[in-house]
Amino acid sequence: MLVDVLQRRVKDLRISVTDRCNLRCTYCMPLEIYTWINREEILSYEEITRLARLFVRLGVEKIRITGGEALVRRDLHQLVAGISALAGLRDLCLTTNGVLLAQQAPLLAAAGLKRINVSVDTLDPATFRRMTGRDNLSQVLDGLLAARRCGLLPIKINAVIIRGVNDKEILPMVDFARHHGFAIRFIEFMDVGNVNQWHSDKLVSKREILQIIHARYPLREIGREEHGAPAIGYGFEDGRGEVGVIASVTEPFCAGCTRLRLTADGKLVTCLFSASGHDVKSLLRGGASDEEILAFIRSVWQARADRYSEERHAALSSGKDYRSADRTKIEMIRLGG
Ligand code: GTP
Ligand code: 5AD
Ligand code: SF4
Ligand code: SF4
Repeated sequence: MLVDVLQRRVKDLRISVTDRCNLRCTYCMPLEIYTWINREEILSYEEITRLARLFVRLGVEKIRITGGEALVRRDLHQLVAGISALAGLRDLCLTTNGVLLAQQAPLLAAAGLKRINVSVDTLDPATFRRMTGRDNLSQVLDGLLAARRCGLLPIKINAVIIRGVNDKEILPMVDFARHHGFAIRFIEFMDVGNVNQWHSDKLVSKREILQIIHARYPLREIGREEHGAPAIGYGFEDGRGEVGVIASVTEPFCAGCTRLRLTADGKLVTCLFSASGHDVKSLLRGGASDEEILAFIRSVWQARADRYSEERHAALSSGKDYRSADRTKIEMIRLGG
C-alpha cells in the first residue's frame, strides 16, 4: 500500500484545470493582474485523463475538479466524461464559483459529474461585490438552482467567513440553505498564498460560527464524513438539513490528510501550503511509460511529510507572534483549494 512518511494513504486527487477566474475574491486573488500559466504549459484533457487513470491505479477513489474557476476552461464536460468513465473511481465532483454553472450544469451532469460545491460567501449584492470584485451574485444563485434541477446532488455551498466583512451573513446563509435544501459549510479564513493579507484577527473560528448558528437553530454533531475530511458536519435538531465547518486553522485535520493536488501546468503538490510542486508534465510529454510515471508519483507521495495546518496551530497556540508571510506558498489560484 502506498503511504507517505506519516502513514497517510493517497485517496483524493484535486485537479486544477486552469489558473484563471472570472471573480477576484479578496481572500484568494486580491490582485487585478497575474502572470498566467502559458497556454502551451496547460495539460490537455487527454493528458489529465491519462494521469487520472494512473492515480486511480494507485488508490485514488475521489477526484475533484477545480481551478482558478474550472468552468472558464472550454468544454469542461469533455474532461468530466473522460474521468467519469474510469473504473474504480467512487466520487467525481467539481468546486466552482457558480457564475457559469446555469449554462453548463446539464452538460456536466450528462457527462457523469456526480455533485458540486459552490462558493457563495454572501447573499447581499453589495457585499458580494466587495468580496469578489464583480456583480455576478444573481448568476451564481441561478447556477445553484440549475444544478439542483440537473440532479448534481448533494449541492454544498462553501462560505469563507471573514470578520468585519461577511460574519453577519452566517444566519441569512443558513436560512437560505435550509429553505432550498442545500448543505452549507462555513470555512475559516486561511493564510493561503502570499498576498491575501491574512491575520488571525480576521478569523471567525469554528466555535464562534457554531455558537451563532446553535443559538438560532440547535445543532447536534454528526462528525466528519471520513477520517481526515475537511468538514465536520452538524445536523439541525429539527431535521431540516445539515451544516458543516471547515476549521483548518483552529482544528487542523492534517493527521488524516489523503489529498494530492495536480496543477493545470502539470505539477504535483502535496499540501495546500506547499512552496512548490513536482513536475510530472515533463515525463508525460517526454514519452515516459505508465510504469515510469507511476514510479514518479509513488516517490513524491512516499516522501511527503506535510502538516502545515498543524504546525500553524502549534505556533498560534504557543502565543508567539505567528506570521504567515514568513513562508512562501503557491497561490490558491494555482491549486483551487
Ligand atoms: P467535499 O468532498 O464535498 O467534502 O469537498 P472538500 O471540502 O474536500 O472540497 P472543497 O473544494 O469544497 O473545499 C472546501 C474548503 O476546504 C476550501 O477552502 C479548501 O481550501 C479546503 N480544503 C480542502 N482540502 C483541504 C486540505 O487538504 N487542507 C486544508 N487546509 N484545506 C482544505
Ligand atoms: N481561506 C479559506 N478558503 C478559501 N478558499 C479560497 N481561498 C480561501 C482562503 N483564503 C475557498 C474558496 C472555495 C474553495 C476552493 O477554497 O472559497 O470554496
Ligand atoms: Fe476565483 Fe474561487 Fe479564487 Fe474566488 S476563491 S477568486 S471564485 S478561484
Ligand atoms: Fe493536508 Fe496540508 Fe491541508 Fe494539512 S494543511 S490537511 S497536510 S493539505
